[in-house]
Amino acid sequence: MLVFSTSDKGGTGRSVTSCNLAYRLCVSGRNVAYVDFDFGSPTAGALFEISSVECGTPQQDGVHSYLLGETGVAARVDVRAVSDRPALRRLGPKAGKLVLFPGDEGGAEFLTADETIVGRCAELLHALEQEFKVVIVDLSAGRSAALELVLRATALPQLRALTARWLIFHRWTRQHILAASGLVHGSHGLVQTGKECGHDPLELLDSVRFIRTAVPQATPLGTVDRPAQAAWLLEQNAALKRLASANRLGASTLLGETPMEPVLHWREQVIMDMDVDAKIADPATALAYTELARRLLDPATWERF
Ligand SMILES: Nc1ncnc2c1ncn2[C@@H]1O[C@H](COP(=O)(O)OP(=O)(O)OP(=O)(O)O)[C@@H](O)[C@H]1O
Ligand SMILES: [Mg+2]
Repeated sequence: MLVFSTSDKGGTGRSVTSCNLAYRLCVSGRNVAYVDFDFGSPTAGALFEISSVECGTPQQDGVHSYLLGETGVAARVDVRAVSDRPALRRLGPKAGKLVLFPGDEGGAEFLTADETIVGRCAELLHALEQEFKVVIVDLSAGRSAALELVLRATALPQLRALTARWLIFHRWTRQHILAASGLVHGSHGLVQTGKECGHDPLELLDSVRFIRTAVPQATPLGTVDRPAQAAWLLEQNAALKRLASANRLGASTLLGETPMEPVLHWREQVIMDMDVDAKIADPATALAYTELARRLLDPATWERF
C-alpha cells in the first residue's frame, strides 16, 4: 500500500504523525518504508533520531539524487539498526522492518518534474510497494511539485493497480480546516490536478482521508472554575465541527485525530509505550496512533459512502 501524507500548510503535524504511524505499523509486525519527499526540508531523519541523516543524507545519494538520475539507487537507512534512541534499536523479533529513505542534505524543492523524473519516481514507488507492506511518502506541503510528481507517477499504467491512500493533515482551527479542504477540493488541488494527470476524480476522492492533529481538549480541567471560558471552548469546538462538515471534512472523511501531546509540543519524536509507562507521554496519544494505524489498514475505512 502506498500512503501519501500531505497538508496545505506547514507545521501541521504531518511528519510527526506519519512517523508515529510508521512506528505503530512496524511494532504490529508490518514492514514499513518512510520516504522523505519533503524536498525543500528533508528532515525525516530527526524524527527517528538518526543524527547521521538528521537533515538528509550528506553523501548526496538520497531521493533528490535518485530522482535526478545522479545515483542509481536511493539510500536506505535501517531505523531499527541506527537510531540514536536505544529503545528503537531493541524492538524485538515480532516487529517488522522500518526503513527510512532520506532526501539529500541541502536538497531543494523541484520546480518542475519532467517525464524522466516521473518515471524514476514510479520505479521507486513500485519497487518499494513490492518490498514493504506500507510505504509512507511524506510530501512537501501545499500544491507542491512533490504532489504533482506523485500524482503523475501513480497515474502511470505500472502503478495504477496499486492501492494508494491520501492522508491530509490539518490542525483543528478555522484556517487549517479551510486550507485542507482547498487542498483537496479547490482549484489546482489534489482532485483537479489528479484529474489532469489521468486519475478518475471519484476514485481519487475515495482514497482521501483527513487527520486532525494536536486537537486540544474542549473541556480542559482548568476551566472548572471558569464557566464562561468552558462554554466558549465548547461553542468553538461545535463551530469547528460545523465548519468541517460544511467543507467536506466531516466524520465520514476522517481517518482520526491526535490529541495535543505535551511531549510533541516540545520535541518531534516517536511516542513509544515506554514513554506512556514512564508517565511522560499521555496514554491517549499512543492510543490515537495505534488507532490511526488500525484504521489505515482496515478495508471498512475505505468503503464508499
Ligand atoms: N499531537 C501533537 N501534540 C502537540 N504537538 C504536536 C503534535 N503533533 C505534532 N506536533 C508538533 O507540531 C510541530 C509540527 O509538526 P510536524 O513537523 O510533524 O509538521 P509538518 O506538517 O510535517 O511540518 P513541515 O511542513 O514543517 O514539514 C512539531 O513541533 C511537532 O512535534
Ligand atoms: Mg514535515
